[in-house]
Amino acid sequence: MEKFVGLTVIQWGTTCSLFWEAGHNVIPCVNGVLVISREAIYRSGFKCQTCNKSYSSKNLYLDLTVTASSEEYTENQPTRTELFRSPVVSFLYERGWRQNFNQSGFPGPEEEFNMAQEYFKPAEGGILVDVSCGSGLFSRKFAKCGSYAAVVALDFSENMLRECYDFTKKEDPSLSNNLALVRADVARLPFPSASIDAIHAGAAIHCWPSPSNAVAEITRILRSGGVFVGTTFLRYSSSTPAILRPFRERTVQPYGFLMEEEIEDLCKSCGLVNFSSKVQRSFIMFSAQKP
Ligand SMILES: C[S@@+](CC[C@H](N)C(=O)[O-])C[C@H]1O[C@@H](n2cnc3c(N)ncnc32)[C@H](O)[C@@H]1O
Repeated sequence: MEKFVGLTVIQWGTTCSLFWEAGHNVIPCVNGVLVISREAIYRSGFKCQTCNKSYSSKNLYLDLTVTASSEEYTENQPTRTELFRSPVVSFLYERGWRQNFNQSGFPGPEEEFNMAQEYFKPAEGGILVDVSCGSGLFSRKFAKCGSYAAVVALDFSENMLRECYDFTKKEDPSLSNNLALVRADVARLPFPSASIDAIHAGAAIHCWPSPSNAVAEITRILRSGGVFVGTTFLRYSSSTPAILRPFRERTVQPYGFLMEEEIEDLCKSCGLVNFSSKVQRSFIMFSAQKP
């Protein structure tokens, strides 16, 4: 195994840098940008230059969670995160579960993808991370459309990543050239600061244990001018009857549904600018930029 020296590919916070351990020939390079391809991940290992911790491929995805190599220690996340680690939920997700979102005003994957692409125009040609990608519904579209040098499909759920792998293999195996599957926590994103051009988080913010930690991390890894686009369910919309509103409060819901003003405030508090949004019943797509 040959160790790459001088190329920081993935970084833990500000202290640990992971270096690719692999032959030159398995690492594709597009316009000088190191691209994390699934092919490369299968055959590679990563090592932190600072603490010497190694990360190895789990065949289908690279596990960059802190506990990736723990044998005894386990850590449970809140229900809204754990739910999606279930094999049953992961299997059902693109087979009916996601389609139900339409009832709340989600326009559907094709339209949501087109809307996101409009926001991502300043990031074309760069690296896009689809944070909380689930089974990769949008990661596959971003990889297929050819607008990005590389796409990283990132999720905390091992089973969602497995679904993403299977869908990709079935639909278009050639996507593996610019699509990498990574397991990580949104509150600890394994990328250097100011290294990413576009971040997408579809139907995800309400599932995150701490949206403020997550958006702060997203802001850290975005380059100046980089774009964050997210969608979620609003706590309630103008058409939600007043009598039902108390039942959608955060304290009584398993999910952390927010209001539009809260999302805008959160983005601003984390240092993002140019907030804009589109709302349709309980659906919101919002975008903000790193100054
Ligand atoms: C409702 S799914 C959204 C999937 C897809 N993005 C979409 O638009 O349909 C929410 C996803 O958030 C992921 N998730 C929950 N907590 C997470 C965390 N702490 N870090 C990363 N992903 C997380 C879940 O595993 C799940 O796949």
